[in-house]
Amino acid sequence: MGPLSPTRTMRLWGPRSLGVALGVFMTIGFALQLWGGPFQRRLPGLQLRQSWASTPGPAVPSCLPRQRLVFLKTHKSGSSSVLSLLHRYGDRHGLRFALPARYQFGYPKLFQASRVKGYRPQGGGTQSPFHILCHHMRFNLKEVRSVEGVDRTGERWAHACSQDHQGRRPQAWRLPRHPLTQELGMGATKVLQVMPSDSFFFSIVRDPAALARSAFSYYKSTSSAFRKSPSLAAFLDNPRAFYQPGARGDHYARNLLWFDFGLPFPPEMRTKRGNPHPPRDPNPPQLPSGVGLRAHTLDPNALFHPVPTVADGHSQTSSSASLDLRSSSFIQWNLAWLDSVFDLVLVAEYFDESLVLLADALCWSLDDVVGFMHNAQAGGGQGGSAVGDGGLTAEDRQLSARARAWNNLDWALYVHFNRSLWARIKQYGQSRLDSAVAELRARREALAKHCLVGGEALDPKYITDRRFRPFQFGSGKVLGYVLQSGLSLQDQEECERLATPELQYKDKLDAKQFPPTVSVPLKTSRLPSP
Ligand SMILES: *[C@@H]1O[C@H](CO)[C@@H](O)[C@H](O)[C@H]1NC(C)=O
Repeated sequence: MGPLSPTRTMRLWGPRSLGVALGVFMTIGFALQLWGGPFQRRLPGLQLRQSWASTPGPAVPSCLPRQRLVFLKTHKSGSSSVLSLLHRYGDRHGLRFALPARYQFGYPKLFQASRVKGYRPQGGGTQSPFHILCHHMRFNLKEVRSVEGVDRTGERWAHACSQDHQGRRPQAWRLPRHPLTQELGMGATKVLQVMPSDSFFFSIVRDPAALARSAFSYYKSTSSAFRKSPSLAAFLDNPRAFYQPGARGDHYARNLLWFDFGLPFPPEMRTKRGNPHPPRDPNPPQLPSGVGLRAHTLDPNALFHPVPTVADGHSQTSSSASLDLRSSSFIQWNLAWLDSVFDLVLVAEYFDESLVLLADALCWSLDDVVGFMHNAQAGGGQGGSAVGDGGLTAEDRQLSARARAWNNLDWALYVHFNRSLWARIKQYGQSRLDSAVAELRARREALAKHCLVGGEALDPKYITDRRFRPFQFGSGKVLGYVLQSGLSLQDQEECERLATPELQYKDKLDAKQFPPTVSVPLKTSRLPSP
């Protein structure tokens, strides 16, 4: 018990304290206005304890909720569930989305700012900037971030690279200038601008073994490598028999995360689509002196040519060991670059833990990140629980090992961001996290019971309302939700938001941002008269 009990506190309220209290109340009022939506529109009886952050004391937020976001939506990684909460949050707060004309930004091509609906290059209009960019793209920083972002990137580089990240961060990086800095320095006057420089960049990754299972079923007919193979096991048993770089949908069959992050591929993995934008730097960082390589520049190409290297003063021809070393430097270089760009990377296997950290980083309430799983395939096990190799058969384990080896770049990416996530969890506090996760799950369960028929995701055959029927794709069924009947008007609205699949939600936001004008009379004129 603290020294001040509530009654004693009351007695202490002299005129001076009143002034302080007034200030505090005004701050709270201001904060509540900012947080408006979530506090005013809670489902009755489902009020969340405000103290979920579990820091006792006055509920005065010490931060402002962040509302400029870039979410890189990676494939088959639970990203649809993240998209759902972004849609909801933006919808409730009237935020402006940078939307694709259809559902993706020209994927699998690299993101181009010109693909954003209503986008006008700097100076080309008086439009207000976008708040949220979150639909499928192959990441392309150059086209995502606005001009002012460059300096910040440079700074972040310095930050990311000077950190000794669990002993793995190379110590001897020469702090590079970001490629964009160079570009601007060369007199680029009209750099594309989509997102403001202070945007929060985040994404999500998933264990490549789980991702491969999901991708195989989902892209069975899209990827020629998958289509030719009778099963994932057969594919992974001898991927080269099916996989051809450059063939249709090849990116779905190997290192899909790496691809989505827009990272360059080493030459032997390259496809026609190629490597448009490796984070190449005119003054590239040098390799750490301790790794046994001659300190040469970090050119991804150089790293993969079988050139003789000097290790420990002895000349060596390229052995597989030195090749490993070079490829690992290539990987580390790219991961360090991602660290300098992304503020947070969620991990699908620790989805709820990730959501708590996300809410914390964004200064959002727990309610803002509570939602339902979206775009899950029947029997796909896309649940957010941490899945170890514990209950798996020997065959499953072998398949996982092969999937991770085949998707070696994704595996490195995954291990890296898993480590970062857990470092953050440690910082946040394990027990604080555990109680927030428990609260989040309880809240989700309560919402599911309240909103959903059966309290869970259902086979699409039960979903007759087109607004809630998820887009069906791939060889599995994509699950969705059926709303309870008899909800109050307010609950209905909130439950609809929670249950709306991503494509329908995108259409809804699109219609809100671009109210139909010309098409309305056309549509009405086509309506059959009664
Ligand atoms: C992810 O991190 C957790 C916590 O350190 C660990 O238990 C788990 O094995 C890690 N997973 C991988 C694939 O590295």
